[in-house]
Amino acid sequence: MTKFSTKAIHAGQEPDPGTGAVMTPIFQTSTYAQTGLGGHKGYEYSRSGNPTRTALEECIAALENGTYGLAFASGLAAEQAILSLLKSGDHLLSCDDLYGGTYRIFERVISRYNIETGYVTTGKPEDYEKAIQPNTKLIWLETPTNPLLRLVDIRAIAEIAHRHNILLVVDNTFSSPYFQRPLELGADIVLHSTTKYINGHSDVVGGALVLNDHETYEAIKFYQNAAGGIPGPFDSWLTLRGIKTLAVRMRQHEENAFSIAQFLTEHPRVQRVYYPGLASHPDYALAKRQMSGFGGMVSFDFKGTLEDVDQLVRKLNVFTFAESLGGVESLVCHPATMTHGSIPKELRESRGLTDTLLRLSVGIEDIDDLLLDLQQALAD
Ligand SMILES: Cc1ncc(COP(=O)(O)O)c(C=O)c1O
Repeated sequence: MTKFSTKAIHAGQEPDPGTGAVMTPIFQTSTYAQTGLGGHKGYEYSRSGNPTRTALEECIAALENGTYGLAFASGLAAEQAILSLLKSGDHLLSCDDLYGGTYRIFERVISRYNIETGYVTTGKPEDYEKAIQPNTKLIWLETPTNPLLRLVDIRAIAEIAHRHNILLVVDNTFSSPYFQRPLELGADIVLHSTTKYINGHSDVVGGALVLNDHETYEAIKFYQNAAGGIPGPFDSWLTLRGIKTLAVRMRQHEENAFSIAQFLTEHPRVQRVYYPGLASHPDYALAKRQMSGFGGMVSFDFKGTLEDVDQLVRKLNVFTFAESLGGVESLVCHPATMTHGSIPKELRESRGLTDTLLRLSVGIEDIDDLLLDLQQALAD
């Protein structure tokens, strides 16, 4: 089993040995009968392990071409598990165009434990090297970034990180393993908010990590059990079901996103379009090298005031005005007041995240309906 779509449907999901059930059962149990002292079948208590969760962990690991998978109750719970590798006095180096909740955990949670985060404001690998301090233990990348869809060169930064004995974390939520596999490019830990493309149906909040190094895996697995931020069996099962169609969904997301990016580029009320699949995108060459497709996220700067932005989102019918991304349905979000509201305004604007920026999570509805919806909402 080597090809992506086959693994998405089968990895970690042998028919149930007890009953022959083809679909992995929802093992809705907190505990497991033991035959005597130490006499168990690999499961003792569902915080430590649950067979439905194991199937999910194995499947996501297979999709990232990694050895170990770990599933969590949310993307942020997965992030906190990575951050448990740090101790007081350590330094973290991050890209600056980040999901707001990731910035919040860096600035308002781990900062309390005397762990400082430095931010690199350009995508240039040499600037990461310059910002490394003697106590830097992790480099954290999100690529493509959220919401400006800039790219960072994973292979170049992995090489720098390893030269300095630093672990590289890549948040791969926006691409999904269908379009980008950071471990193959040298990253040490891949992070997903499975809430997004991996589950794909906007009905579960979850997170996952994939990694190859046994020692790091054991350390994070220890924290997963010790802190307890695990997904329940039903959420694990829903996510596994979502994954089965990941490949076909991603292809359609991309096709639709590409058409929308082109449409917006030509629209007189649009100032600027951010989509790595456009030849005009500053990271287009890197996108072609590092990813096998450009994904389903498109951001654009609208010409107008904040009131005009409000009118625009109210006029949209097929696109729903909501946070989040990666579901089969199209969403529009206003990062300045929604996903990135926790970043101070001056900082936000200095990073190019203006008040008139809108982010589209392009779904897999019929493209004609999506284009017509945008056309009528953008009309004067
Ligand atoms: C890129 C990215 N990483 C991490 C997260 C956090 O994930 P969750 O909301 O599942 O905790 C999000 C959520 O929006 C995200 O967009």
